[in-house]
Amino acid sequence: MYTDYHFQREERLLEEMAYPALDKQREEHAALRARVQDFRARHLAEPNPVLTVEIEDFLKTWMMSHILEEDMRYKPLFEAPTSSGA
Ligand SMILES: [Fe+2]
Repeated sequence: MYTDYHFQREERLLEEMAYPALDKQREEHAALRARVQDFRARHLAEPNPVLTVEIEDFLKTWMMSHILEEDMRYKPLFEAPTSSGA
């Protein structure tokens, strides 16, 4: 799935940057993968609209929380240095 590719790429970049909170990133990514696999299994076993809404809500909440909190923590690693430091 695309998420796997994205997470692997993100984790590899953070590893190269020696990001100190990489374990937390890996942990959250793994938890999402497990949750998505669970949703998938439940959907395949018994598709229903309530589950679809539940999945959408979960993914929206997870993405907002993960991107705005965890991913924002490493943002400074990828920002260009300012010229004021010289
Ligand atoms: Fe992430």
